[in-house]
Amino acid sequence: MERINNLLQKREEASLGGGQKRIDSQHSKGKLTARERIHFLLDEGSFEEVGMFVTHRTSDFGLDEEKYPGDGVITGWGTVNGRLTYVYAQDFTVFGGSLSETHAEKICKIMDLALKNGAPMIGLNDSGGARIQEGVVSLGGYADIFYRNTLASGVIPQISAIMGPCAGGAVYSPALTDFIMMVENSSYMFVTGPNVVKTVTHEEVSAEELGGASTHSTKSGVTHFSCANEIECINSIKQLLSYMPQNCEDDPALWEYESTGNEIREALDSIVPQNANQPYDIRDVINNIIDEGSFFEVHQNYAENIVVGFSRIGGRSIGIIANQPAYLAGVLDIHASTKGARFVRFCDSFNIPLLVLEDVPGFLPGTDQEWNGIINHGAKLLYAFCEATVPRITVITRKAYGGAYCVMNSKHIGADMNYAWPTAEIAVMGAKGAAEIIFKKEITAADDQYQKLAEKEREYSDLFANPYRAAERGFVDEVILPNETRHKLIKAFKMLENKAVKNPRKKHGNIPL
Ligand code: HXC
Repeated sequence: MERINNLLQKREEASLGGGQKRIDSQHSKGKLTARERIHFLLDEGSFEEVGMFVTHRTSDFGLDEEKYPGDGVITGWGTVNGRLTYVYAQDFTVFGGSLSETHAEKICKIMDLALKNGAPMIGLNDSGGARIQEGVVSLGGYADIFYRNTLASGVIPQISAIMGPCAGGAVYSPALTDFIMMVENSSYMFVTGPNVVKTVTHEEVSAEELGGASTHSTKSGVTHFSCANEIECINSIKQLLSYMPQNCEDDPALWEYESTGNEIREALDSIVPQNANQPYDIRDVINNIIDEGSFFEVHQNYAENIVVGFSRIGGRSIGIIANQPAYLAGVLDIHASTKGARFVRFCDSFNIPLLVLEDVPGFLPGTDQEWNGIINHGAKLLYAFCEATVPRITVITRKAYGGAYCVMNSKHIGADMNYAWPTAEIAVMGAKGAAEIIFKKEITAADDQYQKLAEKEREYSDLFANPYRAAERGFVDEVILPNETRHKLIKAFKMLENKAVKNPRKKHGNIPL
């Protein structure tokens, strides 16, 4: 009995981490403790802890006098909506959640289990970085984690939530995972903090401005989600997981879906404006195509000229990549290309079929884009689509111009089904620009140059500002009424459900990074 009580007492002690005072301090900052976070993430009663009594091995700086069971990280497994999930949560109440040798070993142990057993790995980060008293063994611990993050990439989904500080090299574990979520006003990520920045570049910047959720969700794109609070963050992790399979050998779960027998969506007929230069919100198209309320947008406030996110159609998980005419006319630029490419590669890694909604005037011109490498970055999106072997469907709603036509999941680069609405315009470039180039001499010689240009513009437009030239060639499989789109897509994704394509054998490709 004494031994049993002893164990119960040890468990009780471990559950308090760095002690009640530090727990209170954590709460006073509006933050949950590591255990509370795990409690909200996993299904009730499903958590199985590993390594509760692990302590550090350091004696420098008097640390042998200060040991806490668990050593600043809680690790284990449980279920999220009934599906096996591995988790670690850093405990800020123990040495500020800093990473020691043993803390890293605990994380590695759980990552190894996740990888061997093929289930998602969730990291809840809240840490002051390397355990300063330990020196290089702590750095080694980080590298051990980075190595595992990389080996697990594309095998199991990895999600990182940043719920406190995440600075220095510590940022690279989340950066190697598939998705990052940050909590507004209580988390930050940067390679060097405001003090170092001030010394080196003489810039005055707050931690929040330098690396808070708002900065990384709008300016850098480092975080995919910015959450108002920790509960929203945890709920977002659960929703995100619901679209994914457990691992790359698995398919995403098929949700129950009962058709009402009427998949026609009349609202789609009036979304694209008469005037081809007028914007519209591509999300209106998305929401009229998918299963109601199923769109979960990724990178919502970053590179808004492309919209990406998960959704369901006929109960099936899909990834949507859509040009956004309501923002910069839906043009492809550096950020939109990398955002799109990363999303496409995630979906392809995990057998999530792709739907592309295309309305793109081309790539963004300018010195800024050229000097910063739009050629390389645009090629990432192209490469990502070309190598994707999941079912791939494109719907051209309006513009499909120039190189962007090829890039946005064209038939030529392996799309399975390509649909176009009657409003589609598929050409090398817009009619005005085209007329100015190919009829330059005639226009210059004309008495009324303006009228001549308009006439030639119309001529080009009559020929190409429609989907039929592409349909004649079979580059578009079918020209469909907008209202039929949902119906067509449900059938086409079902038709493609057993698609099996193998790219040539290779060690790995060389995506233009
Ligand atoms: C050991 C640490 C620690 C660390 C915090 N603590 N960071 N202990 N190693 N890295 C301890 C504190 O001593 C304190 O202990 C408790 O955690 C809470 O810290 P506070 O400073 O009181 O909290 P707060 O005011 O909220 O500030 C949090 C903080 C700050 C911003 C994270 O603690 C801080 O700046 N820490 C150092 C960050 C840092 O420079 N880390 C190394 C980065 S380099 P008590 O006993 O009072 O509770 C790095 C390289 C990784 O990480 C490379 C990987 C390749």
